[in-house]
Amino acid sequence: MKQAIMAMLAENSTPLSGEEISRRLGVSRVAVWKQIGRLRTCGIDIESTTKGYRLRSLPDTPFPWRFGRRAGQIEYHPELASTMDRAGELARAGCPPFTVVVADRQFQGRGRLARHWQSADGGLYCSLVLRPPLSPREAPLVTFAVALVLVETLAACCAVEARVKWPNDVLVGEAKIAGILAQVEFEADQVRFINLGVGLNLNNRPEVADKPAVSVCQLTGRAVDRSAVLAFFLDRLEERLARFAAAEVVADWKANTLTLGRQVTINTARGNCTGLAVDLDEAGGLILELPDGRRQTIFYGDCLHAPLTGSDQ
Ligand code: BTN
Repeated sequence: MKQAIMAMLAENSTPLSGEEISRRLGVSRVAVWKQIGRLRTCGIDIESTTKGYRLRSLPDTPFPWRFGRRAGQIEYHPELASTMDRAGELARAGCPPFTVVVADRQFQGRGRLARHWQSADGGLYCSLVLRPPLSPREAPLVTFAVALVLVETLAACCAVEARVKWPNDVLVGEAKIAGILAQVEFEADQVRFINLGVGLNLNNRPEVADKPAVSVCQLTGRAVDRSAVLAFFLDRLEERLARFAAAEVVADWKANTLTLGRQVTINTARGNCTGLAVDLDEAGGLILELPDGRRQTIFYGDCLHAPLTGSDQ
């Protein structure tokens, strides 16, 4: 009922009487009054006027009712250990594709390569359950598509120009603004689910010791509406996945990357590999030209860009 009341108030800029709300919902006025009290204790600023209730400001909290037709796909939590854990439970229990778990903060946020992902209030932390009809070889490209959609989202919703870094970081300059974590399970030769965790630095102030990180509010000095950003991202991602074509993802990624043409070191489980990043193959492998002229394709690892020299810039 809280969601229905919020949706009604959000649609109306003028006050809506308790009587009207109770009539539309088919509940008593006392029930409406109780729910309004509960919404206020969640921090929602609802004004009582002689003509009824009015929403003073729209919270940017990703409550399901903020997502219109998608409301039923969104599971919102003020706090979770990690949205990846909850998305894993839902995926294994057979939830529909495009189920989204979103939290205001995480106390055990996870990054790639077993790193910690700082998840303070103000950032966007979500995991999506996808069930694309893809083969194991094509599956990694979904994370490249997500990184591209994040670049598009940052440009359209936040006026921030970002680029992708292999394999799927999103950077502004050399500072990380978003990261993606994928968890894939296969069944025979098809994907059973791909859970994609997205951490996007919006109104938070990331403090990462080893690598530079940045948020939208640090870049622009303005706070953004996290729900509006998530809604745009989900719409664009859905469109992109509906017309998924490996060659298009690879071409777009190449057009939006900071990695190609750079000297890089990739830390892999089998040691480090240094060379010039020359290309991306059709499965998302990074092709390096080694100092002796040989080429090597790397599929997994941590990529470090060498600093740009004067002649590169
Ligand atoms: C990385 O760049 O290392 C990936 C970071 C992914 C962080 C997101 S935040 C939402 C989801 N839940 C997690 O615990 N991690 C991902």
